[in-house]
Amino acid sequence: MLKDTWILFDLDGTLTQSEEGIWNCAKHAVKEMGFPEPDAATLRKFIGPPLMYSFRTFLGMTDEQAEEAQRIYRARYTTVGMYENRVYPGIRTMLRTLWKQGAKLGVVTGKPAYPTGKILEYFGFDRFISKVVCATDGHAEKEHLIREALPEGHGEAWMVGDRCFDMEGGVKAGVHTLGVTYGYGSEQELLESGAEKIAHTPVQILDILCPEAKRERGAFLTVEGLDGSGKGTQIERLSDALDRWGFDVVHTREPGGTPIGEKIREILLDKANAGMADVTEALLYAASRAQHVREKILPAVAEGKIVLCDRFLDSSVAYQGGGRQLGIDEVLRINAPAVEGAMPDLTVYLDLDHTESLKRRCAASEPDRMEMENESFHARVEDGYHQLIARDPDRFVVVDAAKTRDEIAVEVQEKVLNRLMESEA
Ligand code: TYD
Repeated sequence: MLKDTWILFDLDGTLTQSEEGIWNCAKHAVKEMGFPEPDAATLRKFIGPPLMYSFRTFLGMTDEQAEEAQRIYRARYTTVGMYENRVYPGIRTMLRTLWKQGAKLGVVTGKPAYPTGKILEYFGFDRFISKVVCATDGHAEKEHLIREALPEGHGEAWMVGDRCFDMEGGVKAGVHTLGVTYGYGSEQELLESGAEKIAHTPVQILDILCPEAKRERGAFLTVEGLDGSGKGTQIERLSDALDRWGFDVVHTREPGGTPIGEKIREILLDKANAGMADVTEALLYAASRAQHVREKILPAVAEGKIVLCDRFLDSSVAYQGGGRQLGIDEVLRINAPAVEGAMPDLTVYLDLDHTESLKRRCAASEPDRMEMENESFHARVEDGYHQLIARDPDRFVVVDAAKTRDEIAVEVQEKVLNRLMESEA
């Protein structure tokens, strides 16, 4: 346990990768000021120093011009730019694990308070962070910010950051220093400025600060819907969003997801297998699933990953239970030894009417063995899904798949992220 340990983090370059927003805002301000567009090398220099300094030094602006450029930059940054940001992979698990170990976590940054608070809230980090100290005009020295963050009589304390300012500040404030090389500073810069320890990835921060900590469990998410409901696109969009939020995503599918499962998939979808008995079909889907659960899903969730699976048990219940009329309970019975209780934490259902699904399937590529089934089959599948949702409404996020792709993506992202962040407590 890390009960009396304080761990302070720098924000940009340590928890979040913020260059996209910084560059877009700098480009916007420079353009509005009528200056020529800065090249990539100039833009890179904007990360770290105060804005006024950058506009004056790198673009040759006068004090008045730099002040105006800063105003334009900030107007875009505080509305759009601060969200053009992503969490480094592994940060979520690292923060959550340290927090569960009882460490007190803080953020110490040269960024102003407003965007800092918004960014921490946006990514759901506010629950882990008990102290935030930001630069105020004329008061941006890391040493002072670190001292301010720590309560009197604090125990062991660490400053974790990616630049020399973080390490130097930590040394002057008398705390331990941990430099991270995945941000904007080099290992040499960090060592020369007093880093006691170096981490090359967020997971290594955890290995250094709390090697004995057990990884927190991840989550199992599934996406379901009729053929043609747009699952593929939405899974990709959701996977991108989860990545941006710093979740470690394993993308997989059923039938398939493992080498054995993919072979079973070929048998199941092969049009030559028209004579397959319904129960054979149900058992093959269950067999693919049994392998998938054991080989991939459970180990990944235990390591703290988010498994995002295109179809799972609900598909069998809807297609074999409903579509093939084997019955919901019979299909659940067949699948019991396959899943062994490994049910999804959350399931996104893309709700599409079966007649609309048929139209979309006809317009798309050549149908596989399942997609060739007639309309009443798909009507029963749809009904099977609705029965499942009625049985277990809390597990499902139901989204109207007749909306536009963008509307669906925004809704799915918001609902799934909220549920995942809530469950991190
Ligand atoms: P999938 O590759 O998801 O097809 P699509 O992208 O067209 O939705 O799934 C293949 C087919 O397998 C699909 O028609 C649904 C069916 N299926 C079942 O009948 N039972 C199951 O348990 C699963 C997982 C899929």
